[in-house]
Amino acid sequence: MRVVVVEDNSSILAVLCRMVGHINTAAHADYIDCIGFTDPIKALTHLSSNGCDLLIVDYLMPGMNGVELIEAMRAMPEHTHVPVVMVTADSDRNRRMAAITAGATDFVSKPVDPVELRLRVTNLLELRRARNALAIQAETLTEQVAIATSHLRLREEEVVFRLARAIDLRDGATGGHVDRVAQSSKIIAEAMGMDAEFCRTLTLASPLHDVGKIGLPDAILNKPGLLTVDEVTVMRSHTTIGAAILAKADSELVQMAESIAIAHHERWDGTGYPHRLAGTEIPIEARITAVADVFDALCSARCYKRAWTLDEARAEIVRGSGSQFDPACVAAFESQWDLISSQMTANQLQSAA
Ligand SMILES: [Fe+2]
Ligand SMILES: [Fe+2]
Repeated sequence: MRVVVVEDNSSILAVLCRMVGHINTAAHADYIDCIGFTDPIKALTHLSSNGCDLLIVDYLMPGMNGVELIEAMRAMPEHTHVPVVMVTADSDRNRRMAAITAGATDFVSKPVDPVELRLRVTNLLELRRARNALAIQAETLTEQVAIATSHLRLREEEVVFRLARAIDLRDGATGGHVDRVAQSSKIIAEAMGMDAEFCRTLTLASPLHDVGKIGLPDAILNKPGLLTVDEVTVMRSHTTIGAAILAKADSELVQMAESIAIAHHERWDGTGYPHRLAGTEIPIEARITAVADVFDALCSARCYKRAWTLDEARAEIVRGSGSQFDPACVAAFESQWDLISSQMTANQLQSAA
């Protein structure tokens, strides 16, 4: 343990250092490293670049008194909690109050009683040790929590990724669709200035938008050509089936996925399904995913249509601004066109390989 003693009288300083140096440290098995200063300015310079576990300081000193020295030391973040013993020649109440206000922890009266000093120093160093141990424990706990949280997030991502893959396989004609929707949704959200946590959650949740298709009959899901009115009703139920699959989750990721699953076919003008929500009644995550989803569907070949070119699909999205889509989402989509079109091309090539 490092003890700094500041006392302008060199004889008293030598006595104090000797007393501190002779304190029996067997109780805490720590070597006491005591360093003394007659000049408070030099003590402060030492403290600015060295650790300290206990400061013993005189009150009356030339250049800087004990209270000023304590205040200057407390202003150093690394010494905020270092215990301080003030040595005073008198019992001046105001002086003691000023010292306590500045951050003094304890007092010893002059002439110093070696037994009293030993007891106070031993107690304060023990307190310091306990505080250091707690700080180390808190730091270790914080690190462990951060590691555990990152493991949990990785597991969450893996489970979602594999569920999204299952949806991709179920909806066979759209290989790579969910990955591309995830990437485009992320790009649009970032361009809209959404925060990093929202963008991360959206990237993971948007691939689950069609999870309800797991509950649709193959005959409807893979039917070439137009669906009958009844079949359209069944097809549209993938929104409510998806929401039912994801309902009542504790995870924020799954909660967002539910909100996207139920609302990704709502339209800005209120003519979408299943609830005919309009404008900002539609959750922002669903409005963003809608743009990314429709754009990718247009660019992909389905059993009932050819793949549109990127420019044709882009024009269709722009045409839908203010009717099918949130104009702000379309503006963000347009502003990131180079990025969206290049990731789309790269992903399509990867899926085809
Ligand atoms: Fe859908
Ligand atoms: Fe989709």
